[in-house]
Amino acid sequence: MAKRLDLKDVDIYYGTFHAVSSVSLTVPPRSVTAFIGPSGCGKSTVLRTLNRMHEVIPGARVEGQVLLDGEDIYAGAVDPVAVRRTIGMVFQRPNPFPTMSIRDNVVAGMKLQGVRDKKKLDEIAERSLRGANLWNEVKDRLGKPGGGLSGGQQQRLCIARAIAVQPDVLLMDEPCSALDPISTLAIEDLIGELKKSYTIVIVTHNMQQAARVSDQTAFFNLRATGEPGRLVEIDDTEKIFSNPTERATEDYISGRFG
Ligand SMILES: Nc1ncnc2c1ncn2[C@@H]1O[C@H](COP(=O)(O)OP(=O)(O)O)[C@@H](O)[C@H]1O
Ligand SMILES: [Mg+2]
Repeated sequence: MAKRLDLKDVDIYYGTFHAVSSVSLTVPPRSVTAFIGPSGCGKSTVLRTLNRMHEVIPGARVEGQVLLDGEDIYAGAVDPVAVRRTIGMVFQRPNPFPTMSIRDNVVAGMKLQGVRDKKKLDEIAERSLRGANLWNEVKDRLGKPGGGLSGGQQQRLCIARAIAVQPDVLLMDEPCSALDPISTLAIEDLIGELKKSYTIVIVTHNMQQAARVSDQTAFFNLRATGEPGRLVEIDDTEKIFSNPTERATEDYISGRFG
């Protein structure tokens, strides 16, 4: 649980299009790392290379190394499906299985892994829903469809589903961008809780959110239109938002773009 991620000289392509150039960074265990930067600079692309979701796009490929506690997740013998189980992902739009019950949404991954024992699955559902700060709101309607929950509850359901399989890392791509401010705060509080047990990487276009939830912040940018995205700098969140090293970061966080 809660493993460290190291990226070493990672280059990412969509066919011949070089989307992201030479990213090296470390994500320590039990911490939150935020990716910020203008739209199109490659934040989601980098995130998807961290659990081998990038390569499901035809022609897409990754160069360099992504190490999980020192083990290269792109090594020949590694099964990408096993990587995705170990490194869970939460997306921008909550995507529960809408007609499946709340309980079955949470334990879907464990069932796929072959767990059949009803009592064990009930325990996992309760532990995961408690972990996602959703238990009290749904405990009396676990058999009702996941699609009947509010947007914010659905996103917490997706987080419960992600943590049910006890991943080593949780990736979140703009998890609050479809949510109202109250639901957003609930997710931000939850991220603060989850980092005690998990390694978390969150993409956010909201700089206040990055400042609120993350320990370190990585700023990505494009040198020019058509050039690949690159990591400009990564540092303690406090430092990035008060006294960044790079002029490009300063311009971005103070709202002077381009
Ligand atoms: N499936 C795809 N096929 C081809 N190019 C893509 C694909 N997804 C993203 N890109 C391109 O890769 C670059 C980075 O995109 P993305 O990672 O989505 O940026 P961000 O998340 O920072 O907004 C952009 O130029 C985008 O158009
Ligand atoms: Mg994105």
